[in-house]
Amino acid sequence: MSVSKVSVVGAGGNVGSIVAYSIAMQGLCHEVILVDRDTERAKGKALDMNQAASALRSHSVVRAADSYEDIKDSKIVVITAGFPRKPGMSRDDLLFKNAEIIDEIVENVKKYAPDSILIVVTNPLDTMTYVALKKSGFPKNRVIGMAGILDGARMTHFIYEKLGFGAGQIRATVIGGHGDFMVPLPRYSTVAGVPITDLLIPEELSEIVHLTKNGGAQIVKLLGTSAYFAPGRATAIMVEAILKDSKKIYPCSTLLEGEYGYHDITNGVPVMLGADGAEKIIELQLTPREREMFNKSVKSVQSLLDVLKNSNYFGEEK
Ligand code: NAI
Ligand code: 2OP
Repeated sequence: MSVSKVSVVGAGGNVGSIVAYSIAMQGLCHEVILVDRDTERAKGKALDMNQAASALRSHSVVRAADSYEDIKDSKIVVITAGFPRKPGMSRDDLLFKNAEIIDEIVENVKKYAPDSILIVVTNPLDTMTYVALKKSGFPKNRVIGMAGILDGARMTHFIYEKLGFGAGQIRATVIGGHGDFMVPLPRYSTVAGVPITDLLIPEELSEIVHLTKNGGAQIVKLLGTSAYFAPGRATAIMVEAILKDSKKIYPCSTLLEGEYGYHDITNGVPVMLGADGAEKIIELQLTPREREMFNKSVKSVQSLLDVLKNSNYFGEEK
């Protein structure tokens, strides 16, 4: 395995290409491999990114994969491949379609990069993270979902908009699943160390919470497709923390095995990222209201997982 190689599956698409571009522009590793069902598109993106890297004098080299064999020895495999929801498609249809995609990718990762760390981005995020975990058979520290950094960044922006100062000094925390029931935590959000609960009134905080939960939908409405700059950048932050063994804490989707009182379910909680992936889960002391919101969020992820489980999707593995 090489710490200087990262593969991105789905890199022909919006989010995957921003992930790969961020990694290459930051020079986080030597080789960035782009995998996509649309190989021509991946080739075009690789060429464009290599030329950007050359302009920047980055040592990263981007290569479109001819086959899955090219992901061999990757330290990290990022999965952004998946369908967005189309008209006439139910949430469950999307669930099964994307689960199939994750399944196919994970089979190849097991074969060619069995020691890698998987970062899942495909929606529905927490459920797809669970699918990747179970289908890969990897230990839980090596399968991590990206969402909390994105949702926290959205909250950070909305706090800035409300305050009108502190850009670059705001830290916001969002836990829970990536969906309508995510749990923005004003009590764990600060500006230059000052709790935002000391700076904003409850009505303003509620508005920030509402905007954060609606952050993805707001962009879909404006762009006609889902966001990609912030999701791609947020994913690259996870890649950086792992490659640099930084031990930084970020909210990520991870398997809970007793933490927060839950077992065998993936959800977003603060996690320490390092060379071994999700190395430690941090348990926050939640108020009864925050706990109630977290419970709802876990329930919503569980209900999607139940759809898969009830269709015997996991077969004998579950
Ligand atoms: P996109 O449609 O631009 O890109 C998806 C790419 O996946 C396409 O290039 C497609 O050719 C490729 N693909 C599809 N099936 C494949 C397969 N079996 N093998 C290899 N490649 C395959 O979509 P976009 O906007 O990049 O979003 C990707 C996923 O990320 C979606 O599921 C989206 O909902 C999710 N997402 C998750 C976020 C999060 O916070 N976790 C944030 C934003 C998006
Ligand atoms: C987002 O939050 C759609 O999950 C995607 O932008």
